[in-house]
Amino acid sequence: MSSRENFGSRATVIMAMAGSAIGLGNIWRFPFIVGEYGGAAFILVYILCCFLLSLPIFLSESIIGRRTHQNTFGAMSTLAPGTAWKWLGLLTVFSPLIILSYYSVVGGWSFAYLCKAVTLQFKPENAEAVTSMFGQFSTSTWGPLVCMVIFLGLTALIVYFGVNKGIERFSKISIPVLFVLIVLIAVYSITLSGAGEGVKYLVNPDFSKLTPDAFAAALGQSFFSLSLGVGTMLTYSSYVSKDENILVSAGGTAFFDLLFAILAGFAVMPAVFAAGIAPSSGPGLVFETLPFIFAKMGSGAQIISAAVSILFFLTILVAALSSSISMMEVGVAYLVEEKKQPRHKATVLLFVVTLVIGVLCALSFGTLSGVKLFGNTIFNFCDKLASNFLMTVGALLFSVFVGWKMDKAAVRDELTNGGTLSGVKKLFPFVYFLIKYVTPVTIAAIFLISLFG
Ligand code: PFF
Repeated sequence: MSSRENFGSRATVIMAMAGSAIGLGNIWRFPFIVGEYGGAAFILVYILCCFLLSLPIFLSESIIGRRTHQNTFGAMSTLAPGTAWKWLGLLTVFSPLIILSYYSVVGGWSFAYLCKAVTLQFKPENAEAVTSMFGQFSTSTWGPLVCMVIFLGLTALIVYFGVNKGIERFSKISIPVLFVLIVLIAVYSITLSGAGEGVKYLVNPDFSKLTPDAFAAALGQSFFSLSLGVGTMLTYSSYVSKDENILVSAGGTAFFDLLFAILAGFAVMPAVFAAGIAPSSGPGLVFETLPFIFAKMGSGAQIISAAVSILFFLTILVAALSSSISMMEVGVAYLVEEKKQPRHKATVLLFVVTLVIGVLCALSFGTLSGVKLFGNTIFNFCDKLASNFLMTVGALLFSVFVGWKMDKAAVRDELTNGGTLSGVKKLFPFVYFLIKYVTPVTIAAIFLISLFG
């Protein structure tokens, strides 16, 4: 245990965690659901969800991780020896790998589209063809596979270098760069003529759209966006030193994740509306609508539109990478600490395992599109399994564990650094109440309604 690494400072803790949090979820989902569920009204609900429901889960994972300084399995086995809780630790070794498998497919697409942007393939004369380009690309066999291997390879390379020289160093550079890029793109997008409608779509509050579905969407999005319930934040917190204030690191991460999501909204939606296209989310938005817009814009100033498209796909690629490394690190920490594997072996092993599942996910758009699991393609099955089930169950169980199984004094000790943080000491009863009652009850209710409702 003695050679275990820690993140170097508060700033790097927050940057690494924000790196995990900021990803595809912020760019391709958040802007759309904000518009669909009532603009500023939804943002308000989302903020409440983040800070009253997701933050307590984040803290639960942080408490377990930082208390033990161990991987998910080791942490649960140490805190609840001889009980079934270790299975939660083991489950969360696998959940991020499932996410990583399909996330890498999209990471690969982003890499491919960055190459297309660099080689100036989004041109006014082929604007229409640009939209169908994605269908052709994603259903083909070799292109997506090669790009996925490159993306997974980059992920493994960063993880291989370890917590300080790999993850921390990458996040320290990538997070500031991501913020600069997204601000530049947002400024450009807002100043396009006709962008006003897009801004309205995001900010006009419409409280009538706050249906029960909107609440479920806010909760699901905040889990995914903050990488909760799958042991990622637990593992990252295990690299946080004993004198760090984990309320500040979790709160800071949630703040930057939210800020980036809102900026992404202003980067994407005004451009979509300026082009007179219906808003959408997911792959269609990023790989069809936006390239089409980049191509069209080229009829004005070609250099600017080329630059914006390059910056945009670079943003997506870097954001996806800073998330994917956190997914791989969970399993690597487990293999290194529990199975005594050297780091390089653990990384290669997980690279191969995710590659195998990733290949199936990638091919499920073309060659394997006929293979269905419970009515879903392999890619969609992995996505639904992770986002609708594994994350929710994991989040629920982590908060139940900290609220009901762990000793209250230990929880207080961990949150307040042995009673030395007087501000946190005052907040403790409120935070504990959220962890023990509010979070589990609300998540269980929303989960059951979505399963049977
Ligand atoms: N938070 C990432 C995003 O918004 O794209 C996704 C994610 C990362 C989910 C890490 C789960 C995880 F463990």
